[in-house]
Amino acid sequence: MSLNLLRTKSIEQSLADADEPEYQLKRTLSALDLAVFGIGVIIGAGIFTLTGRAAHNTAGPAVILSFVIAAVCCALAAMCYAEFASTVPVSGSAYTFSYAALGEIFAWIIGWDLILEMFLAVSVVAQGWSAYFGTFLDQITGQPAGSHVLPDIIANGGNGNAPAFNVDLMAICLIIVLGVLMIIGIKESMAVNRVLVVLKICIVLFVIFAGIAFINRDNWSPFIPAAISAEEAGITQTGGLTQPLLQWFTGSQPMVYGVGGIFAGAALVFFAYIGFDVVATTAEEAKNPKKDLPKGIIGSLVVCTVLYCVVALVITGMLPTAEIPQSAALATAFALKGAPWIAIVVSAGAVCGLTTVVLTMLIGSTRLIFAMSRDGLFPMGLAKVHPKFRTPWVIATIVTVLCLVVAGFTPVGVLEEMVNIGTLFAFLIVSVAVLVLRKRRPDLPRPFRVPFVPVVPVLAAIICFYLMLNLAVETWLRFLVWMVLGLVIYFAYSHWHARLHTGKALSSDVEEIIHSGVLTPPENR
Ligand code: ALA
Repeated sequence: MSLNLLRTKSIEQSLADADEPEYQLKRTLSALDLAVFGIGVIIGAGIFTLTGRAAHNTAGPAVILSFVIAAVCCALAAMCYAEFASTVPVSGSAYTFSYAALGEIFAWIIGWDLILEMFLAVSVVAQGWSAYFGTFLDQITGQPAGSHVLPDIIANGGNGNAPAFNVDLMAICLIIVLGVLMIIGIKESMAVNRVLVVLKICIVLFVIFAGIAFINRDNWSPFIPAAISAEEAGITQTGGLTQPLLQWFTGSQPMVYGVGGIFAGAALVFFAYIGFDVVATTAEEAKNPKKDLPKGIIGSLVVCTVLYCVVALVITGMLPTAEIPQSAALATAFALKGAPWIAIVVSAGAVCGLTTVVLTMLIGSTRLIFAMSRDGLFPMGLAKVHPKFRTPWVIATIVTVLCLVVAGFTPVGVLEEMVNIGTLFAFLIVSVAVLVLRKRRPDLPRPFRVPFVPVVPVLAAIICFYLMLNLAVETWLRFLVWMVLGLVIYFAYSHWHARLHTGKALSSDVEEIIHSGVLTPPENR
């Protein structure tokens, strides 16, 4: 039997699914809708939690520059996503793009990688939610600093002094509730999404305006703290396997702050931007994908970048670097400043805002695994549709259970970097895929074209790779283990069961659900 690893699913074949008039999704989304959707997915645990950790542990006040660097990386990758989304407007995002441009083995790698990204994003944001939920309860019940209403062994998302073994029951509960909603087919409307996005933006603006009063300019000086050894800074998390790969390569002493700290911070806060790529998956529903997709993708990025940078400036101005809280940072900073009611408002807003991110990511991962099962890379039987709810309940249940296990039993600090490495890798492949597809299929109509090719895609790939190098050695090791596991599954099962190999037709169940748009995030319908 021949091993054809680079067989591609033709673009025409991918488009055929979405081509039949009776199954076409409605083209109703404007550029504003797309930007709102993007902001809804983007603003989450990253800004509410990671800002504190990145400022405290890696960059100091210069964390604002970390946000700018991460934004530049995302903007370059966003253009590549926009070109693909307008050329191959079929759901599945980077996985589908790679299947068309690079070949099956790359599609599998990217699909497997995105599963990692989304599963862990659900878990990380659920733990961020749990941290804010705990903070919220502590604030409204007036707990003294350091004590919590809910015992650390079952709650607080790493916010408390949890013992070595703890179970984040709150994160588990959230995922169960949202998983059930996903299975019974909750239909949030675009209007509800808009309300939540407006709420989130208001909370972020509230943090900015309320925080201005507490700024002490001395805290910004030095703006880029001199690089010092992690030990000297009292930061134990950045030695050994927890130091950035680049640092480990060069064999230098674990350092924090300085220019290196800004890049390490960028690799961390990159998490805060994840989600804009989801906008690219709405190509089929955009009124005018050529103009609106790039506007939606870039627009949501610009809004978030501005908000993030100002929040970073405010938080680092409120407290000296060493005192910036590392968990539930935005709310806790106000509590430390003696403004508990502001902390309550911020926590409540974060609890609401983070919920939509978890839900959307849950739906996103279900949709991706569904796309892979449809192609036969996972057992096609997984794509069973519930007789009453008409949702892919088997995949949704598996996704929910796996996510709640990870969120419930894994320490939060480890997970964000895993999401980042997975996403950066996806961006890298999409950037390369743009160049490959331009060469292989120059004939395809491309409503949106990346400007300055090959400079932009090459630059995007280089920056993504450089940020990956700034992630911890242990993150790389875990990532490699995950990818090796994926390749074992591919060679043992997926390659031989792919529809491109077997030529099997889709079952009517699967076809029905593909075309019903049921896997489209509710906000998109
Ligand atoms: N960007 C999303 C967040 O920060 C994943 O929660």
